[in-house]
Amino acid sequence: MKIYGGKTYEQMSEKAASVIAAQVIEKPRSVLGLATGSTPIGLYGFLARWYKEKYVSFAQCKTINLDEYCGIGPDHDQSYAYFMRENLFDQIDVLPENTNIPNGLNPDAAAECARYDKVIEDLGYADVQLLGLGNNGHIGFNEPAAAFVPGVNHVMLTESTINANARFFASRDEVPKSAYTMGIKGIMNARKILLVANGAGKAEILEKALFGPVTPEVPASVLQLHRDVVVCADEAALSVISQKHPEEIEWFR
Ligand code: F6R
Repeated sequence: MKIYGGKTYEQMSEKAASVIAAQVIEKPRSVLGLATGSTPIGLYGFLARWYKEKYVSFAQCKTINLDEYCGIGPDHDQSYAYFMRENLFDQIDVLPENTNIPNGLNPDAAAECARYDKVIEDLGYADVQLLGLGNNGHIGFNEPAAAFVPGVNHVMLTESTINANARFFASRDEVPKSAYTMGIKGIMNARKILLVANGAGKAEILEKALFGPVTPEVPASVLQLHRDVVVCADEAALSVISQKHPEEIEWFR
């Protein structure tokens, strides 16, 4: 595992974007596993800028997103499909038909999970899978639980996640109660994992995930078992790790 620390969100975002850009430059037909949430917005901005400056093209890439809320469609401004168009897909040259996101409007959960599992398998898993980190240690929407769930699954969101995501909706009641998410198998089969975290609110859970026991109660802890994990975080998110394991961080500020 490699932990890169930057002073600011901007620096962290640039470093994380460079990991994805390097992947695409080296292998233009890359499969990119993508995430939503507030953390990757900055790095998507860098990718969009570098595309416009002609440093990188996504024309041959395929993408697989981690998750989507159930019950809202791609035109809802809080759907992850909408988020991806706004923050990345409409800014770069990826072909819309090469992008994949679970269909939150499919009421048949078993069918949707099976369909999306096949999409991921048929693409041969991601070359690099981008992950944010939930306040409770979730990755994708794999919430703390008694066991890791391997396949794409329909999850009931925890109170903690609903509360964290309420900031994006007009009211807490509007936050969807469930989601479709890639499971742990899809994530762990990615050739490389890029975990991004910023802000003091992530400091405790980031340390637990990377250095605590591997347990489904902290889903991100499973990443300790992956052979190629790159973490890009800002100083605030690294405040606990820099106290307890300072030698593990490579600062690039
Ligand atoms: C989003 C996702 C979630 C977020 C996590 C962190 O596709 O899968 O796991 O990455 O909730 O969200 P932010 O970045 O908003 O703190």
